[in-house]
Amino acid sequence: MDFVGHSDFAGTGDEFLGHFTALGGLAPTERVLDIGCGIGRMARPLAGYLTPPGTYDGFDINPEGIAWCRSRYRAHPAFTFVVADLFNRRYNPAGTQSADAFTFPYADASFDFALATSVFTHLLEGEADRYVAEAARTLAPGGRLFATWFLLDDGSRAAIAAGRAGLPFLDAGEAVAVVSDEVPEEAIAFDRRWLQETLQRHGLALTAVHDGTWRGDEAGTSFQDIVVATKAGT
Ligand SMILES: C[S@@+](CC[C@H](N)C(=O)[O-])C[C@H]1O[C@@H](n2cnc3c(N)ncnc32)[C@H](O)[C@@H]1O
Repeated sequence: MDFVGHSDFAGTGDEFLGHFTALGGLAPTERVLDIGCGIGRMARPLAGYLTPPGTYDGFDINPEGIAWCRSRYRAHPAFTFVVADLFNRRYNPAGTQSADAFTFPYADASFDFALATSVFTHLLEGEADRYVAEAARTLAPGGRLFATWFLLDDGSRAAIAAGRAGLPFLDAGEAVAVVSDEVPEEAIAFDRRWLQETLQRHGLALTAVHDGTWRGDEAGTSFQDIVVATKAGT
């Protein structure tokens, strides 16, 4: 069942709850959207943190993961999980619809905090653009998008070229780079300016970038880069 990475499941969840609060300003009473929630690595610590009227909604393209989450959190009425029948070569090759036209199954301005941990790192360019747009649509004014990325810039490109980076991205000079041409969704990196422009185009202001250790620098905040963006308005 564990298809979400090779990290310590509970340790990584606890680490990120700390980042959600310290870097993203998450409060216990907020409405949380977990984009690509997998097997509930973030739902687990959030179940011990959120209090009414706080809520949690997660969706993913992996039906087994969603079935497990529904069973595991059935005693938590504020927690809901939805499956989306979307194609991803790495995570759901049987999916029938394209994520680049997917509308998140939630109303406009439903959430205060949208998180996506290790999800944009598996989306193609059109899908990532669409997911930023949908996160912006479903966030209330003042809401935050907290997401992890592999960002391409002078520092990460130098690390990749020197073989110091945690992932050997091919064609890292491009705006979008992958580690595998056969399965691009294995890991995808985006140029930092591409992200800034995409956030801005969809009404999100870049609040902070916390560089990750994947750049070959042990001082990083987490393995992937953490990006916090805020929806305009109050
Ligand atoms: C590395 S896992 C991370 C899961 C979870 N966010 C976590 O941190 O444990 C990547 C997740 O993205 C999901 N995913 C891939 N494409 C997706 C899409 N288009 N929409 C939603 N989830 C997607 C996968 O099914 C998988 O659960």
